Amino acid sequence: MKEELSANYWQGRYLDQNTGWNAGRCTRPIATYIDQLQDVKLKILIPGCGHGHEAQYLYEKGFRNIHLCDWAQKPLNQLQEKLSELPANHFHQGDFFALQETKFDLIIEQTFFCALPPSLRPQYAQKMASLLAPSGQLIGLLFKFPLTEAGPPFGGSLAEYQQLFSPHFAEVQITDCYNSIKPRSGNEYFVQLRP
Ligand SMILES: C[S@@+](CC[C@H](N)C(=O)[O-])C[C@H]1O[C@@H](n2cnc3c(N)ncnc32)[C@H](O)[C@@H]1O
Repeated sequence: MKEELSANYWQGRYLDQNTGWNAGRCTRPIATYIDQLQDVKLKILIPGCGHGHEAQYLYEKGFRNIHLCDWAQKPLNQLQEKLSELPANHFHQGDFFALQETKFDLIIEQTFFCALPPSLRPQYAQKMASLLAPSGQLIGLLFKFPLTEAGPPFGGSLAEYQQLFSPHFAEVQITDCYNSIKPRSGNEYFVQLRP
């Protein structure tokens, strides 16, 4: 793994307030998806949650079975103060790939995949599939620009994503995102993956 993408690197970005990825609120595509959820008991994971705006949005709507994972301590501490009704063991500080939890009904992807070294993508697909309940799904956003050495964020194409996820998920839906926030408009896919 590139040294600069270590836990220390990410924690440093939060300490330096160098967090250009922070949309400041739950992004429109994810909020639109959450708005149609009926069951507030769903067990939900937000990996690489950072400031966790999606978690806050869910929390405001009454969801409490929300788990957050990030290896940067600072944003997790802030979230723990804000989402005070969540049990302490729902805040997983550490490497996502080492996460041990019973299965989730929903996993929400928001600029976590693009932050990982591309060499970890097969492990991401495998780990996500292993964390989902049989009727669960992963939804979220993936960037739509060519994958190069420059990143994070690291991009990708529809063909690359299909090839990556198809071995691990029975259902792979990847569509152009129609309701991206303005700075990401035209540059995102909305994905829904079911095991
Ligand atoms: C680009 S930021 C996105 C944060 C948040 N999802 C957002 O949209 O604001 C990527 C996040 O993933 C976290 N991260 C990167 N690699 C990780 C890993 N292996 N395990 C856990 N968290 C990781 C970083 O600490 C950082 O908070």
